[in-house]
Amino acid sequence: MARDFLNLVDAGGDAIASMIADAIDRKAARKAWPKAQPDADQPLAGHTLAMIFEKNSTRTRVSFDMAMRQLGGSALIMEAGSTQIGRGETIADTARVLSRMVDAIMIRTDDHAKIEELAHYAEVPVINGLTDLSHPCQIVADLLTIVEQGFALPGLQLAWLGDGNNVANSLIEAAGLMKFTIRIGGPAGYEPDADFVARARAAGGEVILTQDPAEAAAGAQIVVTDTWVSMGQVGGEKHIAAMQPYQVNAGLMAKAAPGAKFLHCLPAHREEEVTNEVIDGPASVVWDEAENRIHGQKSVLLWALGKL
Ligand code: CP
Ligand code: NVA
Repeated sequence: MARDFLNLVDAGGDAIASMIADAIDRKAARKAWPKAQPDADQPLAGHTLAMIFEKNSTRTRVSFDMAMRQLGGSALIMEAGSTQIGRGETIADTARVLSRMVDAIMIRTDDHAKIEELAHYAEVPVINGLTDLSHPCQIVADLLTIVEQGFALPGLQLAWLGDGNNVANSLIEAAGLMKFTIRIGGPAGYEPDADFVARARAAGGEVILTQDPAEAAAGAQIVVTDTWVSMGQVGGEKHIAAMQPYQVNAGLMAKAAPGAKFLHCLPAHREEEVTNEVIDGPASVVWDEAENRIHGQKSVLLWALGKL
């Protein structure tokens, strides 16, 4: 069974809960070293993942590769610029060819329509490794991290500060599927995608949009931010100035609930969206979050290949 994972909704709340549970079990079964040690059951033995990158990546690239190795399979990296995609071969033809050669495709690209086209023509699962619209694999790792920290997802109070970007959109989607509250604090003109907000609300999540950073952070158990300028965005002085009030610093964290945790998908732009004091402080779980990309990715791969 081949399942595409373009957004969290493709799996749905029950499957996401299963992914988190499976990731916790597989993570617990591992020793710390060596890092490439295989999972005992080798569920993806003989399977191959092709990873197409049209944008930079450290975590997504390494975590998918390590996840495939640990599950018994292998991954290959295709930098789009050095493939025929970079010379204009169509997405459709690329999908047809790769479907004859590999068992699954992960792509990081700009326009979300490209991944939809790839999924349409591919006969193997297609996984979203980030588009301009969404970043669902990141949010599987984030939810895993939140659960690991002892929080229940239903009823969770989560604050997002800054740009209403791809990561924010997927987090909003998660609020709907897992039934929690997300308060987005960001400047006018940088709101998250309106369809994601509407769908999350319809699914039973509480989504609050505010331009007041204190209102967003008040009582939050989890505080999340991301770069003010995403890959492909232009940025500029006006953009940065608009984001400044939404910096996650000690003052902002003091408004969150006692024991609140800080998440950031990374890479961080230190002293911009987050201060060193917060990202390196006791509330920060960003390194667990980064490691959890591997454990989350395993669950996504197993689900996409019909093994979860
Ligand atoms: N968080 C994340 O997706 O990181 P990379 O851009 O390094 O893959
Ligand atoms: N919002 C960021 C996430 C990077 C992992 C970007 O798209 O650049």
